Order: sequence, then C-alpha cells, then structure tokens
Amino acid sequence: MTVSGSDLLEVRWPSGGELSIPLLWLRDSCPCPDCRVEQTQEKHFHLANLTSISAVKLDADEQGLCVQWSDGHKSYFERSFFESDYALPQRTWRAWSDDFLPGRYDFEAFQTNNGYAAQAISEFLETGVLIIENAPTEDKTLELMSKRFGPIREVLFERIHNVKVDPKGYNVAHTSLGLPPHNDFASYSWPPSVQVLHMLGNEAAGGNSTICDGWAVLEDFRRDHPQEFDVLCKVAVPFREFDEDNETYACEPIITLNPRGQVSLFRYSNQLMQIMDFRDPDTAVFYDAYHKLSRTLVNTKFSRSFRLNSGEMLVVASHRILHGREAITSSGYRHLQDAYFEHDNIRNMLTVLKRSHV
Ligand SMILES: [Fe+2]
Ligand SMILES: [Zn+2]
Repeated sequence: MTVSGSDLLEVRWPSGGELSIPLLWLRDSCPCPDCRVEQTQEKHFHLANLTSISAVKLDADEQGLCVQWSDGHKSYFERSFFESDYALPQRTWRAWSDDFLPGRYDFEAFQTNNGYAAQAISEFLETGVLIIENAPTEDKTLELMSKRFGPIREVLFERIHNVKVDPKGYNVAHTSLGLPPHNDFASYSWPPSVQVLHMLGNEAAGGNSTICDGWAVLEDFRRDHPQEFDVLCKVAVPFREFDEDNETYACEPIITLNPRGQVSLFRYSNQLMQIMDFRDPDTAVFYDAYHKLSRTLVNTKFSRSFRLNSGEMLVVASHRILHGREAITSSGYRHLQDAYFEHDNIRNMLTVLKRSHV
C-alpha cells in the first residue's frame, strides 16, 4: 500500500478521547534509538527510505501508544508525546510606548556581568534598540561586541565600516547630508539583522541620530491601508550598493512576511533603491503604496531623535528598526564606526547567558 501525507490514523484511548494522527508524521516522529541519533538527539530515520507503509497494529493504553508498522519496525510513544504543543518560538517584540527612550547600559558591565548582559539583551529583543554607553573610543572597539553578540556579520566594503565626511565615500553617509530612515545593505538578499553604530568622536554640530520602529509603523499601515500593504509585500524592488571594487544587488519586496503573516523584514532605503521599469504595470501601483508609506514614515510617533555622543553605541535590530541621521551643520571632527551582527546569534546568547546565570 502506498501512503500519502494526508493519511490519518485514528487512536482511541481506553479511558476515552481519541486522536487523529497523520500516519507519516507518526512514523517520522518515532523516538526509538534506531530512529534518532542518541548522542545528538537528531533524527536518523529518513522518510525517503520508505516506499510504502501502514500500521499493522495499534495498542493504546493509559501510558502510551505502541505501533507495529508493516515493515516490521515498532514505535512506542509516551502519552505525553501527544500533549506537547510543538509551537514555534513566539516573538516577544512590542511597539514603543509614547514616552519610550532606548535603554542605556554601561559598556564595561555589559561585557563582564552575565546577568546585566542578559537583562540588556532581553530588553533589546523586545524594543529592538539599545544604547551602550561609556565605551572606549578606540578604533575597532566594535570587535569586542562579539563576546555578547556573536561573530561579526561581514559584508563587502569593510569589516568595520567607517563613516566620516569623505569626498571619495561610496555612500551618502560619507557626506554631511541628512539621511532619511533606512536600513543598511538592502542590496543583500539577507541584509544584516543587527547593526551597531559606535561613535568614536562627535564634535560636529547637527547630525542627530534618528531611529524609527518600522514594524510598529507597518502594523498601523496594514490596518489603515491593507491593499497598499499587500502591494508592498509582493512587488520586487531593486536595491544596489557598489563602488569600484564591490557590487551588491538584490531585487526584493519592501516587506517580507513570515509564514504566520507577521512582518519579518522591512527593507527600506531611499538611497539604495534603483530605478524601476516604468513599463511594468506594477510600478504605478507600487509607487502609490510606497508614497503613502514614505509619508507615514517621516511623520510617525514611532520615531526618536537624539545626539549620539562619543563613547556611545547605538544597537538596532535592523530588520525592524530603521536608522537615520539629521544633516551635519558644522565641520567639527566626527567619526562613526559600524559593524553588523545577526539577530539569531543574539537570541542564542540570551539562552546561553540564562543557563550560566542560574
Ligand atoms: Fe546606515
Ligand atoms: Zn523507531
């Protein structure tokens, strides 16, 4: 007999209650030592080796379920196996309150005190932003953040990026112009998911840092403009960042949703967005939605502006939080470095820190 993934087994518990269990799921989930790698708890059994299967015999008692399979294999499942909810990890982010300001944490304590670092990271996972203060102002101090944030996510151009006013710079950040809210490297299919901006020296007037909770803006936008939101999830937009030695390019929608329909990546960069094909009928529709969203972004309660002083690091969850800079209005010394990390590694760090802290 051949089976399809939708075949169901009906199991009746002697004390009452029944379950409908997908047959292939049940075979694939067998917890026995032949079907798992005991040392690593990984799955060893591979469905691809199965051409046909059926359950010859089912024995359910109060403790669990025994299944005799047609190929001779036998599985035993504790009853609790069917009571687990197998839920995907839930996101814990929350939109900023009206009086929200980024949490501020001391660099030295963040580096050396596990409990303190765990508290900072928990807050970061909720709010998407942190300020680490009293950091050294030496070149490449950002390398030290690997201890808490995991390996640096390298991209082209530089491992640690330098942002100074520079007539040869490859990016508008190297001018004194203001930078509207954006995230970096929209020109990568997977842009860096965390960015740390470290101010080494800031004696120039103006140039306030700005941050904007992009996911919170998009939630409201989705409620107020559902059709436009949908367009921004579907129409691919070209982004490019390049210089003489580097060429990065991605053509992706502005909004990416996860399988639960939640925003998982907001890709927004006026400066890196490339010219779209005006002949494509989607372009006019896209531009209408993009215009509405862009107007919303410049005028939202979900943005903050503050001066980033020397020795301060601004950390942003950059698939969610957009950052920007007001125009620099004097020529004083100003040197910012930035580096990228990955959100998965930071979530992992919280788990590890909690383990070490108990
Ligand atoms: Fe940037
Ligand atoms: Zn097994």
